Amino acid sequence: MHNYLSIKDVTNLNQLVQVAQQCKAQPFAHQALGKNKTLVLLFMNPSLRTRLSTQKAAQNLGMNCIVMNLQQGWQLEFEDGVRMDTTKAEHIREAAAVISQYADIIGLRSFPTLTDRDQDYADFFIQQLTRYASVPVVSLESAIRHPLQSLADALTIAEYQKKERPKVVLTWAPHLKALPQAVGNSFVEFMQQRDVNLMVTHPKGYELAPEFIKSTPVEYDQAKAFENADFIYAKNWSSYESYGKILPIDQDWMITMKLMQQTNNAKFMHCLPVRRNVVVEDAVLNSDHSVVIEQANNRTFAAQAVLKRILETKR
Ligand code: CP
Repeated sequence: MHNYLSIKDVTNLNQLVQVAQQCKAQPFAHQALGKNKTLVLLFMNPSLRTRLSTQKAAQNLGMNCIVMNLQQGWQLEFEDGVRMDTTKAEHIREAAAVISQYADIIGLRSFPTLTDRDQDYADFFIQQLTRYASVPVVSLESAIRHPLQSLADALTIAEYQKKERPKVVLTWAPHLKALPQAVGNSFVEFMQQRDVNLMVTHPKGYELAPEFIKSTPVEYDQAKAFENADFIYAKNWSSYESYGKILPIDQDWMITMKLMQQTNNAKFMHCLPVRRNVVVEDAVLNSDHSVVIEQANNRTFAAQAVLKRILETKR
């Protein structure tokens, strides 16, 4: 593996999940692999889980890790061929080349504009970094994907599944703000490569992009989708069609205990952070249904598996 930007960089997802399981069982077994190697993490947006778990993953592999916030104070210009007469002090072309001298691997967290669909779906920021960096690049969430989250999700489902081919339902849930489609997009991409019975449920108007949803079944009746589900994965996203908009809906899509009772005693998943009693009611999060804390724990081992694979490829 060179870069880790999407499922397309993974040759065998089942094997990568197994590597993550091995990292979890023996986190310090490969401390020599990262000796004298440096991971630089760049954040254009705030983060708790991605920031801390990726640092921990690097430490588990014996790597040094440097973190830099780009959202305040140091703004980069990503557009080529522009006159740099704005507040953006440095071009990604120089920045990526310079950071590549300090880093063996670079991670970037960026967000979509949610106004320019073409730019967002070209995954502009991470593609520009990848273009100008001379070392591998790992997505810490881009405009349209969150592949480290999805690998942790796949690991979590593998740990909790009680039967072959469990029913996994990705359900849209309400939120106050317009959010990216990245987690939903990436989750369906990963689940399409796992041996699961995947279904997506959301109100009309919240269809995911055709290149992500492909032939995955969509059920517009949330209660029906929950029937016999083994895993409920809740996430809000803004509209793809009416790009970046929050649309009016005619019922409350919050995940409740009443809905969970329709399931096959399903595990409840969410990537976090989650707004209690907006996305999901307290009773679900506080119950044995919820695996969100272990899901967040698995972020470390997903990141560790990816860093391990990249370091092994670089040797
Ligand atoms: N799930 C996730 O990416 O969390 P953070 O935004 O805290 O990194």
